[in-house]
Amino acid sequence: METGGPSTQFGTNKKRLLTGIQSSGTLHIGNYFGALKPFVDSYQEYESFLMVADYHALTSLKNGDELRQNIFNTVKDYIAAGVDPSKAVIFQQSRVGEHTELAWILDCLVTVPFLELSHAYKDKVAKGLEANAGLFTYPMLMAADILLYDTDVVPVGEDQRQHIEYAREAAAKFNNAYSQTFKEPKEMILKNVAVVPGTDGKKMSKSYGNTIPLFATKEEITKAVMSIVTDSSGERPENVFAIHKLLLDQSGLDKIYSNPTMRGKYKLIKEALIEDLEAFIAPMREKRANITDEEVKRIIEEGSDKARAIASAKMKDVRQRVGVAL
Ligand code: AQP
Repeated sequence: METGGPSTQFGTNKKRLLTGIQSSGTLHIGNYFGALKPFVDSYQEYESFLMVADYHALTSLKNGDELRQNIFNTVKDYIAAGVDPSKAVIFQQSRVGEHTELAWILDCLVTVPFLELSHAYKDKVAKGLEANAGLFTYPMLMAADILLYDTDVVPVGEDQRQHIEYAREAAAKFNNAYSQTFKEPKEMILKNVAVVPGTDGKKMSKSYGNTIPLFATKEEITKAVMSIVTDSSGERPENVFAIHKLLLDQSGLDKIYSNPTMRGKYKLIKEALIEDLEAFIAPMREKRANITDEEVKRIIEEGSDKARAIASAKMKDVRQRVGVAL
């Protein structure tokens, strides 16, 4: 069930689009193809919100200076990747206190066994990440991020599909308990880029150390590509191909992978991938170099004010419904 039609807070009839990336480290091409590119490709059709998920980053990052730097970097990354801050609300999660407030209320509506089903949580713990309570309740903070803005669509990678289901479930539980309040959001997951593999063939992830950074220098690209794990059993190096197909169309791929002089020459194929990654990254890298910290600060302040205005109106209603507003 959904509340009302399209959003009208901005005086438009457009639906709402929201996504975010944790400022837990350097963005990688998995973040770009899974979440950022789908956002960039469609955000002007919506009222759009792009969050720097700094409170989520605290689940893994325990260094203040690093987190602060990552927040600046993430906003620069968003802009360099093609988001115009005058056309989307770019904001910092922690500056809108309503996110953690709503997360608490949602925490009180869901059970521990329900949260224990989270694949992302289980995967991270299996990888040796600390099983802190924040990591465990992460899906309810993410649900709050989404529900506060009556979000219609959330562009994410496949790994986040279950978290969007959690957000829908949290909305339904709240609506059942307190009457219709929240919209149930839908995920936007692009099939061909749902899971971008890392250099080890597993999901590319900041915390797994298997990334190709989105704004890598040529040297960093070379190092990452040369470390891509290949096996010699198949026709082509699958882990290299999986990244290459994000960058090239079929005819571009055929020139490399159906070329008899390239077949089986994994080093040559990797060199081609390095050139293609460099061609893709270089213009964004140059754009990024011209964005100043002052500009970022202004964008974050303005964006967070806009986000807070919407979130605080929603929370006023929520407080009334749960009974804490007297
Ligand atoms: N490998 C990936 N393929 C496709 N999409 C991906 N995303 C992340 N990795 C891939 C998408 O990027 C968005 C933001 O992710 P995040 O950084 O907030 O959290 P994450 O999914 O946990 O990403 P990482 O790199 O794995 O971060 P860490 O290691 O810090 O937790 C999401 O939409 C995600 O689907």
